[in-house]
Amino acid sequence: MNSALTASAPHHVAIVMDGNGRWAKQRLMPRLAGHRQGLEKLREVVRWSIEAGVKVLTVFAFSSENWRRPTDEVNGLMGLLAKALDREVSALHEAGVQLHFPGDRSALSDSLQVSLAAAEAQTVQNQSLVLNVCFNYGGRWDLVQAARRLAEQGIEITESSLSHTLALSHVPDPDLLIRTGGEQRISNFLIWQMAYTELYFTDALWPALDKSTFLTALQAYAARERRFGQISEQLSPTAVAAV
Ligand code: IPE
Ligand code: IPE
Ligand code: MG
Repeated sequence: MNSALTASAPHHVAIVMDGNGRWAKQRLMPRLAGHRQGLEKLREVVRWSIEAGVKVLTVFAFSSENWRRPTDEVNGLMGLLAKALDREVSALHEAGVQLHFPGDRSALSDSLQVSLAAAEAQTVQNQSLVLNVCFNYGGRWDLVQAARRLAEQGIEITESSLSHTLALSHVPDPDLLIRTGGEQRISNFLIWQMAYTELYFTDALWPALDKSTFLTALQAYAARERRFGQISEQLSPTAVAAV
């Protein structure tokens, strides 16, 4: 990794890991094989992110709407999460990864809920990368749970109080969203937090994402001008006086 890219790396990258099913179908394999391969890819992308200087990685692993899939696939995904927690947490801990699982856990099994909380507690002090694995997450769910909590506590709803009550309140908003799999939509991911996120879409199916495509996304981000409502001339300190 060259240092120029590290210097301009997005602080927070969010990823819609899409295309597992199509990847498997192309190989005449069951969809779950695609999800398994997707988990392997996530392990790699965590490594690439740390190398690139990314500080927060937020991935969409299971959406509020994915319950609508065939029962076998939903059960397979729950099983895969349980297995991943068993097998991956100690290596992630050693690599300095701080784990969070934003989403509605109340619909998950008791044993999964215990494992998720344990993985978060074990890794809470880690500093090399914050990894948010959004599971049973939906942007609309997030807004409703936050508004409900504020109402229950009698706290006025403002942009600040709402932001601080959302499921990703421990990290700044994403700088870059990458969606694999060719679709150009948000699919109820971080709808509040992505107000000013730069978007990057690639046709690569998630299990087949290669490092050069990932780095190309980071480079594309580095070349964007983020104006946040201002004009170009206001962004460079030397130009401010002239505006
Ligand atoms: C993304 O891959 C993983 C989940 C939604 C759990 P998909 O399973 O949506 O893959 P495609 O879109 O069918 O190829
Ligand atoms: C989004 O992918 C959710 C995850 C990657 C977990 P989907 O495959 O569920 O999205 P849609 O249904 O094509 O919009
Ligand atoms: Mg999909």
